[in-house]
Parts: sequence; C-alpha cells; structure tokens
Amino acid sequence: MTKILMVCLGNICRSPLAEGILKSKVYNYKVFIDSAGTGAYHIGEKPDRRSIAVAKLNGLNISDQVARKFTVNDFDDFDIIYVMDNSNYRDVIALTRNNEDKSKVKIILNEVFPDENLDVPDPYSGGDFGFRNVYKMLDEACIAIASKINSDV
Ligand code: 4NP
Repeated sequence: MTKILMVCLGNICRSPLAEGILKSKVYNYKVFIDSAGTGAYHIGEKPDRRSIAVAKLNGLNISDQVARKFTVNDFDDFDIIYVMDNSNYRDVIALTRNNEDKSKVKIILNEVFPDENLDVPDPYSGGDFGFRNVYKMLDEACIAIASKINSDV
C-alpha cells in the first residue's frame, strides 16, 4: 500500500482539499492518504469553511478532517510527501534527516508541470475565487497522481 501525505502551511485550506480529492480518485485499499501542516496555528480545527464549501460543490465531504502538524515521524510513516508550495518545500526539507527523507518530498504541481516548481497559491487571505482556483489545480494534480497509482498492479 502506498502512503501519501499532503502538506501545506495551516492544514486547513489546501492540503485538506488535496487529501479529499485524491481519496476520491483512488482505490482505498491501494493507498493511505493523510494531510498535515508545517505550522501549528490551526491544530485540531476542521478545514476552512471555504475549502469545505468548494469540496461540497464538487461532491466531496472533507468536513470530518482535523488539522495536525507535520512531524519528523511522517518521513517514516509515508512514502510520498506532496507539498503545496515552495515555502512548504523549504520547511519540510529543513526537517529531513537523510537523503531517503529528501527523496520523498515533492512539489505537487510538478505532477502536471514537471520541474517547473509551481505553487498552489495560499488562498487563506483571499476570496472564494482563490479556493475555486486551488480546487482546479489540485484536481488536475490528483488526476495525474491517481492515474499512476491506479495503473500500478
Ligand atoms: P493552508 O492555508 O496552508 O492552505 O492551510 C493557510 C491557512 C492558515 C494560515 C495560512 C495559510 N494562517 O496563517 O493562519
């Protein structure tokens, strides 16, 4: 079973959407998916109401998720750690202990735009458009991730 962790800053806007979207596209016996934040500000909270709303518009319920902070143990517990932006990348890389840990950390939009290191923009301080835009970007990325996973025997 592949274990995938989605990571952003607060674990309330982008990574809960990434978790919910990818879960909807793969067989759950093949993949374990979770999400976490590099920051501690929102530990224990549900996803942002705007993320819950855009997920609902697309037929997904992410309201049961609970925010947690990324820890070094996550390098042992997960095979792939997808970060949402370059700032998350730096924060997670700073916690790596060795090259094996480093090799697990990937910028999620590189699944759609290889080697371009593009950010899923932080929508927290913006309006609803930002959340729809994030949803669209993560949906594309998760289609690419899921097609790889689903083609593995
Ligand atoms: P996220 O968005 O990293 O996509 O969950 C944010 C949520 C909260 C904050 C920043 C980004 N904050 O500063 O509280």
